[in-house]
Amino acid sequence: MENCAIVLAAGDGTRMKVPTAKVLLPVLGKTMVEWVLSAAKKAGIADCCLIIGRNHEDVRRQVGDEVEYAMQTERLGTGHAVMQATGFLERHRGAHCLVLAGDCPLISSETMKAAYQQHVDEQNAVTVISAHLENPFGYGRIVRDEQGGLSHIVEEKDATEEERAINEINSSAYWFEVDALLDALPRIKNDNVKGEYYLTDVVELALQHGRRAGAFAAKDSVEILGANTLQQLLSLQRAAQERIFEQHMKNGVMLTSTDGVLIGPDCSIGAGTVIHAGTRLTGRSYIGEECVLGPAAVVEDSVLGDGTTVVSSQIERSVVGTGVRIGPYAHIRPDCLIAEKVKIGNFVEIKNSKLGAGTSVAHLTYIGDADVGEGCNFGCGVVTTNYDGRQKYRTTVGDKVFIGCNVNLVAPVTLEDNAYIAAGSTITDNVPKDAFAIARARQVIKDNWVLTNKEE
Ligand code: UD1
Ligand code: CA
Repeated sequence: MENCAIVLAAGDGTRMKVPTAKVLLPVLGKTMVEWVLSAAKKAGIADCCLIIGRNHEDVRRQVGDEVEYAMQTERLGTGHAVMQATGFLERHRGAHCLVLAGDCPLISSETMKAAYQQHVDEQNAVTVISAHLENPFGYGRIVRDEQGGLSHIVEEKDATEEERAINEINSSAYWFEVDALLDALPRIKNDNVKGEYYLTDVVELALQHGRRAGAFAAKDSVEILGANTLQQLLSLQRAAQERIFEQHMKNGVMLTSTDGVLIGPDCSIGAGTVIHAGTRLTGRSYIGEECVLGPAAVVEDSVLGDGTTVVSSQIERSVVGTGVRIGPYAHIRPDCLIAEKVKIGNFVEIKNSKLGAGTSVAHLTYIGDADVGEGCNFGCGVVTTNYDGRQKYRTTVGDKVFIGCNVNLVAPVTLEDNAYIAAGSTITDNVPKDAFAIARARQVIKDNWVLTNKEE
């Protein structure tokens, strides 16, 4: 039987004071629950059950159908939350289940695996992942017996003065033998200060049944940080960010400043790339080698080839080739494919378009829904008029097309290879290969008009 995981994500998150479901709050651009699910997946656990409650539609929409869901309609505590997954656990009898809290995003797959090894080696019914914290306030404390074995876990609110002095805390991640967990769940009571069914009580219940319980201390206490308040959310984000910066610097990524810099957990960055202040790299982004990003480059879910420069610009869900220069002040919207050595300059917006190698779009231009070939030149202020108020239409531009300044390309329209478009033209008809097109009113000169018409 394969091991499984249950992620608790039904809590109200009232201490956050925000309307968003707590587990959907982002840490470095990725929701807390997705951090947890990614780590479980990386630890080799395929079967996950997510316990959801308030805002369950939002959670389902974000996470999708990669996991199973169990509804907890009343929030009666972490033990009660796991009880909602009884059906899921029944199907995993004979295996082990990793229970994780959706609001402790930084736990690593290495810790999950190492704790599992200890859990199996010690033949425990439950192994709690613990950590030593300088300030353990708010966490459940790990209480050990005289021999140093795990005795029970006590919540802050239920703890005595003496217990509150303990700085080994419960991370809220545990390995359970599924059968032992199923056996203990119905025996959890809610006779505590909060009147909740605490999952932590399983430790004592297992020991009472003559089973073994252990604690695995995580090497890095940052991993177990939980976010119950927005202050904690920010401080765990900072801790996670420091680690990510370190990792990239070790790999040869140079940060000239960390001010306003955000690098998400799923970004890869090649050696020799320089990152300046105010740069944000989020989602699944792959940055090549020797790129220069920033100041203020924003890259979301995009791929950038080697040697590409992005200054004060935003790129979303697009693929950009090598040696491309973007910015300052450009916006590459989703679904763009920008080939090598393209130049995109000031105040240019590009959306759902392909640009061939070496094409230059230097200033004040909008390219939407277009397929553009190689070596083209867009003058200042070219606009693809792609929308008639009802439908979007595509513009097709061949190779080596020269488009003068202030040209409107009224889509659908095609400019064939090597076409040459006069400045100020409004192009409504296709332009053949090697042709020149001019579509603007002729200039009229009226001699001495000013002298005879000007009012004194
Ligand atoms: C819990 C632990 C505590 C540990 C701390 C680590 C218990 C009783 N306490 O306390 O020992 O030190 O985490 O961060 O387990 N949830 C539900 N349904 C519920 C209640 C909670 O799904 O009815 C979920 C929450 O969404 C959250 C997780 O369980 O993801 C933990 O709940 P929370 O209320 O934050 O517990 P803590 O007080 O932090
Ligand atoms: Ca918590």
